Amino acid sequence: MMVRKPSITNTQIFTCYSYKGGSGRTVAAANIATALAKQGKGVLIIDMDIEAPGLQNVFEVTETDKYRKKRGIQDYLKLHISLEELNDLAVFDLTNGFDTPSAFSFPHGGSLRFLAASTRTTNVLSELSELPERMEVLVDYFAERYNLDYIIIDAASGIREAFTLALNVTNVLLVFFRWTRQHLEGTIKIGTLLEVMNEMGGTPNLQSFKLIASIVPNEEELRVLKNKELANALLQIKKESKVLLEEELDEAGELFYEIPEVLELKWRERILVASKGNTPYDVIAKSLMEEQ
Ligand SMILES: Nc1ncnc2c1ncn2[C@@H]1O[C@H](COP(=O)(O)OP(=O)(O)OP(=O)(O)O)[C@@H](O)[C@H]1O
Ligand SMILES: [Mg+2]
Repeated sequence: MMVRKPSITNTQIFTCYSYKGGSGRTVAAANIATALAKQGKGVLIIDMDIEAPGLQNVFEVTETDKYRKKRGIQDYLKLHISLEELNDLAVFDLTNGFDTPSAFSFPHGGSLRFLAASTRTTNVLSELSELPERMEVLVDYFAERYNLDYIIIDAASGIREAFTLALNVTNVLLVFFRWTRQHLEGTIKIGTLLEVMNEMGGTPNLQSFKLIASIVPNEEELRVLKNKELANALLQIKKESKVLLEEELDEAGELFYEIPEVLELKWRERILVASKGNTPYDVIAKSLMEEQ
């Protein structure tokens, strides 16, 4: 196993990933990052969903002058601006009083920064696989510059180069999925792929991966549905799928947590942990902290 150079051994990198889209991954990444900062940690969240970034909306930075310039991580990875310039152009300090009006205050001295991806369509990367070293240098640079405890990466769905690039520096991979056939099939596929990649030394920093069932319908609500057939179908797929996942991925991953469907998040992407106490995202953040 390759060992990272000393400067970032204290910074844990968690990557949020899902094989299929629409899994609540971006909302979860943003909320987990904020929850970690709320616990007093130094956190950077990176949008690596290069082709379809979304975190800028969750963190509400789109109305800022900085964001209007539409610069992002691709400008460093592809167009070769320096990290110093990337920091000035695309890193938002989300701690109160800094880069955005909707920033957060962290009572325990935590900090939260957001490295945006450019939304300019001309900025889609095609040759990312050649850039793992640039990505490594990037995480090291920010880890040191901001004394980070955690880097959270929101990775693109599917198996694209941006994912490989993120995976290369990842310590813990959080694989989000919904209880549907399409999501399960993809999740099993990615679990198998990870096992192969791991054997080939393709995941040098990966310590573990965890499965997170996301946007899970409330079982109690299902039970009182008038349409019994629908309720039973939904409960059944969940039961069968759990067995299937355990059979297919017996050693590789474990079902880490379920994020229930939350009404407040159903029609808008937002930071729930800022105004509420013990959300599922707080619980995940705390367990991740304890596991270290
Ligand atoms: N726990 C939740 N409960 C209910 N709705 C949610 C929850 N989490 C996310 N959503 C909603 O689901 C939709 C998809 O969420 P999100 O954008 O986070 O998913 P994603 O996996 O990042 O999607 P994409 O593949 O497009 O990047 C959004 O409209 C969001 O508000
Ligand atoms: Mg997303």
